Amino acid sequence: MYRTHTNGELRIEDKNKTVTLAGWVQKTRNKGFMVWVDLRDRYGITQLIFDEERTSEEILETVSKLGREFVIQVTGTVIKRESKNPDIPTGDIEILVSEITILNESLTPPFTIEDNTDGGEELRMKYRYLDIRRNPVRENLVFRHKVTMAVRSYLSNEGFIEIETPYLIKSTPEGARDFVVPSRVNKGQFYALPQSPQTFKQLLMVGGMDKYFQIVKCFRDEDLRADRQPEFTQIDCEMAFVEQDDILNTFEGLIRHLLKEIKGVEIGEFPKMTYDEAMQRYGTDKPDIRFGMELGELNAVIQHKDFNVFNQAELVVGIAIPGGNSFSRKEIDKLIDWVKRPQVGALGMVYCRCNMDGSYKSSVDKFYDQKDFAQWAQVTGAQKGDLICILSGETSKVRTQLSALRMELAETLGLRNPDEFAPLWVIDFPLLEWDEETKRYHAMHHPFTSPRPGQMELLKTNPGDVKANAYDLVLNGNEIGGGSIRIHKKETQAKMFDYLGFTPEEAKAQFGFLMDAFQYGAPPHGGIAFGLDRLVAILGGQETIRDFIAFPKNNSGRDVMIDAPAAIDQTQLDELNLQLRIKP
Ligand code: AMO
Repeated sequence: MYRTHTNGELRIEDKNKTVTLAGWVQKTRNKGFMVWVDLRDRYGITQLIFDEERTSEEILETVSKLGREFVIQVTGTVIKRESKNPDIPTGDIEILVSEITILNESLTPPFTIEDNTDGGEELRMKYRYLDIRRNPVRENLVFRHKVTMAVRSYLSNEGFIEIETPYLIKSTPEGARDFVVPSRVNKGQFYALPQSPQTFKQLLMVGGMDKYFQIVKCFRDEDLRADRQPEFTQIDCEMAFVEQDDILNTFEGLIRHLLKEIKGVEIGEFPKMTYDEAMQRYGTDKPDIRFGMELGELNAVIQHKDFNVFNQAELVVGIAIPGGNSFSRKEIDKLIDWVKRPQVGALGMVYCRCNMDGSYKSSVDKFYDQKDFAQWAQVTGAQKGDLICILSGETSKVRTQLSALRMELAETLGLRNPDEFAPLWVIDFPLLEWDEETKRYHAMHHPFTSPRPGQMELLKTNPGDVKANAYDLVLNGNEIGGGSIRIHKKETQAKMFDYLGFTPEEAKAQFGFLMDAFQYGAPPHGGIAFGLDRLVAILGGQETIRDFIAFPKNNSGRDVMIDAPAAIDQTQLDELNLQLRIKP
């Protein structure tokens, strides 16, 4: 037996017990006549003590060879500790060691394995197995496990069956690029890794499986961000014989259960907001509603003077920053520079200080008077002591820019409290999205999403106005899930492909299997998928999903530890019948 106890387990009640422990050497302190070693494992740290009086020469000799991260096994007696450490649960005891074995030596690690390490991101990723030994990373992985277990048990209790679907499939048009895998047996042909199990879960509904879920890897070749990885995990779900409200109720139940189980937070009914309202009030389809600073549309009260920038704009819109009047000129200039960065893209920003005495001072005093400013304050909800920030331009662009400013300010003003959870359903998304590049409509969610009941006909005349029977779950400003009620009739699906610009041949070649299946009694069905990595990160009070993935990719999609992606050798290429021709 390698160990009788873990390193987080022993207490003063265990005094005088003979125990065997194993783990890693976190730290050695040598006072000459006395040596202490902190022994670490996943469960905690236990202090070992060696001294000239009570420890044999031979053991002291071994101890002198110990370095950081050596793996050792010790047997000894639990004794009361002279100077207690109230910071750790084992702080009242230590082990007087009578036997020691070095199980494995270690090179000096390239960074310290402490909560606050001296290792930079890239180095820690290269030696991720050492990083995982650190408490914050380990705790995140344990946290993820807890969330995953809670999801499985909740859904299983609700009658959902977890069913695996294949990874080697044919491309599904989810909006991102596919990762492809060449087939050796079928020369010149490729599998695609699933962007999601979308079509398979619909086929399971045709198969009568009624309530399906799967905690499943998905693969998307898209640009990376803090909340995106090329391979990520979904809690993928589908139900038959349901309408939108059934799905919302069921999965609101799941998220409510997780918040209660994992965070001890009880939340009532989740609010619902239409896409149009979210865009108008927050400038985004994933608003963080933990704080106000809502967008106030100013066209009606701002386009009557000689200020052409505003007069020519499709939308003039502002937000009131609480307490923002205390910003110095320099701080406001910094904000202006921030919105003008290429990532945000605003051309400029007009501001108006709301003084404590009820007067106003703006950067466009030349064009507007105090009566105008009072109206701006009314529209943006600004109070005395606030600062109104105003952007103008093309509606969709300017909303996105102001929404970015709103989030940035909320972050700096500390309004995004990670211990507060504000879920929100966003519903009634547009079914289609105009793509300037291809000059075509694309399905905003995916082509299997049905329009809101009764809107199919509107597709012919006003495609841009048709609303989808689709919904997103937003948590603290992050899209953590999305889904829809699906089309379940062949003719409707065929019509949808037609509207999306597929020829009947293309539709048949790509999705013939699904439309064929719809001919054999497909039940009405719908579903949702949650991004598990995002959900776990947000429940953990963070937004970078990499910190909750054991072996994540870096920002260029590389695994720097195993050094992937990498070239393959000629034999492999030959076997696959592939010839490499890399364009310069
Ligand atoms: P969607 O594309 O909205 O829907 O994805 C569902 C959820 O998955 C998460 N997500 C990601 N997480 C990390 N990295 C990524 N690259 C990434 N991309 C998406 C998000 C998102 O809300 N098949 C449909 C679901 C359905 O209709 O039922 C789908 O995949 O949290």
